[in-house]
Amino acid sequence: MAKRLRMGFIGCGGNASGHVKRVLSLPEVEIVALNDVSQDSLDRMHERNPEVKGLPTFSDFREMLDAVEMDAVEISTPHTCHFEQIMESLDRGLHVLTEKPMVCTVAHAEQVIRKADEVGKVLMLSYQRHFDPGFRYIRNQIAAGELGEIQFVSAMQSQDWYRSQQGKWRQELALAGGGQLNDSGSHLLDIILWTTGLAVDEVSGYVENLDTEVDINSALSIRFTNGAIGNISVVGNSSGGMWEDITFWGTKAVIYLRNGHITYRSIHTGESFEPEGLPPMSDPDKNFVDAVFGRDEVQEPPICGLRVIELTEAAWESGRTGKPVKVVRSELR
Ligand SMILES: NC(=O)c1ccc[n+]([C@@H]2O[C@H](COP(=O)([O-])OP(=O)(O)OC[C@H]3O[C@@H](n4cnc5c(N)ncnc54)[C@H](O)[C@@H]3O)[C@@H](O)[C@H]2O)c1
Repeated sequence: MAKRLRMGFIGCGGNASGHVKRVLSLPEVEIVALNDVSQDSLDRMHERNPEVKGLPTFSDFREMLDAVEMDAVEISTPHTCHFEQIMESLDRGLHVLTEKPMVCTVAHAEQVIRKADEVGKVLMLSYQRHFDPGFRYIRNQIAAGELGEIQFVSAMQSQDWYRSQQGKWRQELALAGGGQLNDSGSHLLDIILWTTGLAVDEVSGYVENLDTEVDINSALSIRFTNGAIGNISVVGNSSGGMWEDITFWGTKAVIYLRNGHITYRSIHTGESFEPEGLPPMSDPDKNFVDAVFGRDEVQEPPICGLRVIELTEAAWESGRTGKPVKVVRSELR
């Protein structure tokens, strides 16, 4: 491949602006075209990032892919659009960085992973928590056995999502593919699975849609395959802003993560401390480019998207049926 990576953007809304800013700081990348169905979104992208003014713009992503030669795309569109945009881009031999949730069904997740393998291109997700120093620290501690065996995980996320997203695509099932469990909740499910390395065996859930067609509040109880258990609460109609508490109980130590603040407590000595010297910060856009150039491994591989949607689908089914649901793990790795 040439020394420069030519990149197109599929979806130019609020979140894409941040990606464009980060990509503009990467010297080997040239943004070559922009796509969005909304001219307003394209106009706002130009206001936020004047550097991309003057690039060709397209209302249809396929027309962009037909008209402009490129090596990679970044996708930042409503959730149910991701599947065909990923498939079409991979089919044309492009590397793909997609926003979360990767796709909205297990069947789609398996298809995009198979397609990426078949065409030999990078497919990765934008779960930026994989670059967060605190989460990297927790994952490293667990992987090194410092907490002993994980026996319980408890996680709570709350956000003023019900009110803030009223009338928007995030509460329209056809575009969102699900509700808050599939949106901000996708980060929470992913980070629990990624930091602990645990696999889910069974989930039992209550899911409340309130007066919308998507999940707003979810209360999930989980049994993992190693025998650990846990609770995940996603409160989409909080009156406050974003708040998250996660606790990891191992046989040797506990990590309390309170809205980004880590406290580590040894069960045997009773000693508590706030860890120092956390791993460095990075971001998905840099990792994507490094992975395409073969300098780094993908830190948010598509298997993470598959594991999250396996759990999400099972939680939705449990909420619907009122029964515990076994999570059938795909053979894909
Ligand atoms: N990783 C994160 O922390 C994070 C944060 C915010 C959003 N996101 C994700 O980014 C994606 C976009 O969210 P957002 O907040 O930017 O939403 P947004 O509404 O601001 O932007 C979505 C954009 O997609 C455009 N669009 C809709 N259908 C399209 C289509 N078929 N083709 C091309 N463009 C289309 C819309 O016009 C809009 O400009 C979602 O997947 C969301 O979950 C991730």
